[in-house]
Amino acid sequence: MTNTIEADTLRQWLEARQPVTVLDVRSDEDRAQWAIPGSVHINAYDALRAGEPGGLAAAALPADRPVVTVCNAGRVSQTAATILAERGFDARSLVGGMKAWSLAWNVAEVPLADADVHVIQVRRTGKGCLSYVVGSGSDAIVIDPSVAPDVYVDLARRGGWTIRYVLETHIHADHLSRATDLAGRAGAALLLPAQQRAKFPFTAVGDGEHIRVGDATLEVRHTPGHTDESTSYLLNEAAVFTGDTLFTNGVGRPDLLAGAEAARQRARVLFQSLTRLRQLPPDVLVLPAHTSEPIAFDGRPITARVKEVATWLSHWIASEPAFVDRVTSQLPPPPPNFVRIVELNEAGEFAGADAADLEAGANRCAVR
Ligand SMILES: [Fe+2]
Repeated sequence: MTNTIEADTLRQWLEARQPVTVLDVRSDEDRAQWAIPGSVHINAYDALRAGEPGGLAAAALPADRPVVTVCNAGRVSQTAATILAERGFDARSLVGGMKAWSLAWNVAEVPLADADVHVIQVRRTGKGCLSYVVGSGSDAIVIDPSVAPDVYVDLARRGGWTIRYVLETHIHADHLSRATDLAGRAGAALLLPAQQRAKFPFTAVGDGEHIRVGDATLEVRHTPGHTDESTSYLLNEAAVFTGDTLFTNGVGRPDLLAGAEAARQRARVLFQSLTRLRQLPPDVLVLPAHTSEPIAFDGRPITARVKEVATWLSHWIASEPAFVDRVTSQLPPPPPNFVRIVELNEAGEFAGADAADLEAGANRCAVR
């Protein structure tokens, strides 16, 4: 019997900085798509499938800590763990492989000057989805939830908050939204930017409105372009939740579910939205809904100040035609399964769908 480890246990080990060697045995190609931060890579995939130990027979690995072997779905990694166990290592195979790892998450606290307002960044480490818990007084609001509702309920409880609102920046295309589920579970109001796409009950928020949670005030700023309804939320003039409109090193792609001409039109609208975001005070923290790199268990929030973002964004938005060309010509392939994911997010529930299967793979919501 091969020893195994669940993705959530490995997640906890990494969060606790417990010594462990994570050994990725996938192909170079799969590895290049996404990986577990800090993992070691030995491309032994073809060898293992052929019943050969490949590079694992002689790989030099630290003997004083467990080795967790990782493949795509958790089968080939069992063979790898068996080989390493025979060599005397405490080897365990990651159950479900990278597919299961897709749901692993970690947190980082976002430092704010106001001691009465707390922002916790919840990160899906593999996919790079970023969501937020904003807590103040006895209440909290969750923005763009992308992991299991229990995670947010637990974080809120630890902060001494009750989740009053669940808020989305837009209808997502790269992950299944947990917003309806979380709002139901927490008995919270579900808030979405005004649009006609969602087929479930929600409260619409529009440009200029304010959402208050304790000492935190979120000002609603409609910032279309990535999608028509895409909206940003300015928190106490200190931070701005930009969804997939603006990232720390890129902007939202305007082309998903749009033809070539519609994408160019959306790019022009995105240009206007980014021009407005660029005018926010220089020290405001940009808090996006994604990052394009796997996220380390380092407790460091993924954020940048408006003035830091401006170092490249100002150049991007110097000319509208050049911007439109740039964001419609340098596009990565669309996120895997995005048509189905959008359908499910518009329906507001995905019971019965295989979330791990639909969401597997790297995030591709950005143009850089
Ligand atoms: Fe998006």
